[in-house]
Amino acid sequence: GESFRAAVVAGNAPCISLSDPAHVWVVVNKARPLEPIEFAPASLADLPVQMTTRSGQARSDVAAAVGALAADAAAEGAGAIGANNGYRSYDLQVVTHASHVRNSGQAGADASSARAGHSEHQTGLALDLVACGPACGGIEAFGSTAQGAWVAENAWEYGFIVRYEQVGSGITGYKPEPWHLRYLGPELAAAYHHGGYHTLEEFFALPAAPDYTH
Ligand code: DAL
Ligand code: ZN
Repeated sequence: GESFRAAVVAGNAPCISLSDPAHVWVVVNKARPLEPIEFAPASLADLPVQMTTRSGQARSDVAAAVGALAADAAAEGAGAIGANNGYRSYDLQVVTHASHVRNSGQAGADASSARAGHSEHQTGLALDLVACGPACGGIEAFGSTAQGAWVAENAWEYGFIVRYEQVGSGITGYKPEPWHLRYLGPELAAAYHHGGYHTLEEFFALPAAPDYTH
């Protein structure tokens, strides 16, 4: 993981593109739209956790990893973990973002919802967790639950990072989202954790992207 990161940052891995949306190392943010903009993952699997919406799919490696994460969290006494959204298509992201604009205005929306073509949810690598026990709460409540604390500490062992932390807000342009997990795979997530990183932009030495540039 760390040697992969170091090689990419040093420019010694010319075959590795951080723009390839089919790989776990893709970086998508306000300055880096998906290429192609309407990218969709080749195959999706149902998320093996309780869902609170119908957007209950992710890449199959991501679905398996979150199943293992949820099983271990429950076994260790942290409680049941469910999910709100996994994969969102380009078209669904258009609708999702428009709803945020209606409710919060453009600036408020852009601080909490990605514009279509700029969301990790469109890659199939991201999902939003909720705490269940037995009824499921909402994403906003997740950070202050036992499940949220367990995830913040342990998600890296399953290949995930908490993508939008308070400390990274000036770099990502998003308010903290303790519920939003991004799959990087176990090797890169371990390098991220052990390196003490708080944004994917810093991990890969990319420019901060707090605003849309076009
Ligand atoms: N809420 C995150 C930023 C998204 O819409 O992808
Ligand atoms: Zn999310």
